[in-house]
Amino acid sequence: MVRVLSGIQPSGALHLGNYIGALRQWVAFQDEYDAFYCIVDLHALTLEGDPAERRDRAFEAACNLLATGLDPTRCTLFCQSHVPEHTRLTWLLECTATMGELNRMTQFKDKSRRHEAVRVGLFTYPVLMAADILLYDAGAVPVGDDQRQHLELTREVAQRFNNRYGEVFTIPEAVIPTVGARVMDLQHPERKMSKSVESPLGTVNVLDPPEQIEHKVKRAVTDTDGEMRYDPDAKPGLATLLDLMAVATGRRPQEVAQDYGRYGDLKRDLAAALVELLEPIQKRYAEFADDRGAVERVLAAGAEHAHEVAQATYARAAAAIGLLPPA
Ligand code: AMP
Ligand code: TRP
Repeated sequence: MVRVLSGIQPSGALHLGNYIGALRQWVAFQDEYDAFYCIVDLHALTLEGDPAERRDRAFEAACNLLATGLDPTRCTLFCQSHVPEHTRLTWLLECTATMGELNRMTQFKDKSRRHEAVRVGLFTYPVLMAADILLYDAGAVPVGDDQRQHLELTREVAQRFNNRYGEVFTIPEAVIPTVGARVMDLQHPERKMSKSVESPLGTVNVLDPPEQIEHKVKRAVTDTDGEMRYDPDAKPGLATLLDLMAVATGRRPQEVAQDYGRYGDLKRDLAAALVELLEPIQKRYAEFADDRGAVERVLAAGAEHAHEVAQATYARAAAAIGLLPPA
């Protein structure tokens, strides 16, 4: 059975972009693959954060993932920091990747521009991500479109390591959804929906109460010509709404456009569709959040299983690169 691995940062509320771009695939892949899903708490350290809040966020991420439909009997769900081989393999890969390669990463350029005193970890972030993937011999990595370049880097670095030191790593493929790979911000439809708090009105969170979802959809930016058609370049705001409606109803955005005359009607139905989509997740979230012990047991069992796999891969890589094995 092919293995999949994916990760998500516990750095803020889960939003529709995460759900549509990534998590829906994660849930579906549990039945087709040997699935490993990782809460990448070490990646979250690349930006500032309060320690107590970080802990809460990691726990909330676990509740969120379980609520969206990850089932610990069908997948391995764990925290990155609970499996020490992630950082150990990162070092071997940092000694394989080059500065030039990391300098080309658009996510780094983008994030480093928006922060002062950029942390070294933000620069090497993609190498840690490569370690996450390569440790588990993942053949497939379900991610949103924004992670395409990181996946390319992972493949490059893995190939280079294999060429130099022997066949150690499986070369992974990115699996990017054809619909919903880039969910855009409702206030700034030229940029992707994200966890950053710059645009709270533009981001619909999975746990937003119904009134808030309705409010955000109602206030979504469209255009003034009032013409209903799917045209992401000329009419990005409307296209975002049509995309979301298409995902919520399992149709194509062009078809959705044909069903509506007025923007207001589309917004009303979209808000209702999103509330319906998210309600069951919200209900389950509350149940998991109330049962801390159960969630912690899931993470402990996940880490134990992940550790077994990761240990074997790390030992292979360390031996291949020429580290003296401990006696
Ligand atoms: P992050 O929140 O950055 O940890 O991302 C977790 C997953 O959600 C990754 O697979 C991302 O590619 C995906 N993702 C994040 N934002 C979006 C978005 N606006 N549209 C589609 N996918 C997204
Ligand atoms: N960098 C990814 C993101 O921001 C999260 C991530 C970390 C990841 N490690 C991973 C995704 C491994 C897939 C596989 O979305």
